[in-house]
Amino acid sequence: MTLRIGDIAPDFVQESTLGPLAFHAWLGDDWGLLFSHPADFTPVCTTELGETARLAPEFARRGVKVAALSVDPVHSHKDWVRDINDTQSVRVMFPIIADADRKVATLYDMIHPNASASFTVRSVFFIDPNKKIRATITYPASTGRNFAEILRVIDSLQLTDEHPVATPVNWKNGDDCVIVPSLKDPAALRQAFPEGYRELRPYLRVTPQPKV
Ligand code: BEZ
Repeated sequence: MTLRIGDIAPDFVQESTLGPLAFHAWLGDDWGLLFSHPADFTPVCTTELGETARLAPEFARRGVKVAALSVDPVHSHKDWVRDINDTQSVRVMFPIIADADRKVATLYDMIHPNASASFTVRSVFFIDPNKKIRATITYPASTGRNFAEILRVIDSLQLTDEHPVATPVNWKNGDDCVIVPSLKDPAALRQAFPEGYRELRPYLRVTPQPKV
């Protein structure tokens, strides 16, 4: 099934390193990040899961629960976690879903047959507290993901949910934002942006980042 922005993230129950994971119930009212990797005991994946463990405080600060997934069985995941902890100097505390029957990979279209008939590609699903898919990223097995970019996307989603702004090219948390083109009413603009804004063109209005 091809999942698109705005779709409800499919629910599932699947085995994980922390026991059976009932996805929607586990997410509760938090944001979620569900990401797949091709296989256990592979070098790029080891660095990615190490980085995810290292960034645990950053995900927690943003109210985001993280779950990884590959199509390996749970005993393999558990053995591999020991290696990740040793080689990356971390403690993996988040669940790694053991999708040996490919139930979740199929639901989320994480196996791309032109890349590999049997392994999941590097998919990322950003899921909001209403269980809506808000963004997706897909990389091939050979390209490790940039987790600073993943945090940046979460920051942008959470900011733009709260304020009538969008985040421009290469934006990082704290940088100037642009005002959404649909907001034109002068009183509403004054209320939303008491610090004012610069109008470079009627459609290009730059403002300091509002406080989240
Ligand atoms: C890796 O995670 O290192 C990897 C996995 C599959 C193919 C190539 C690299």
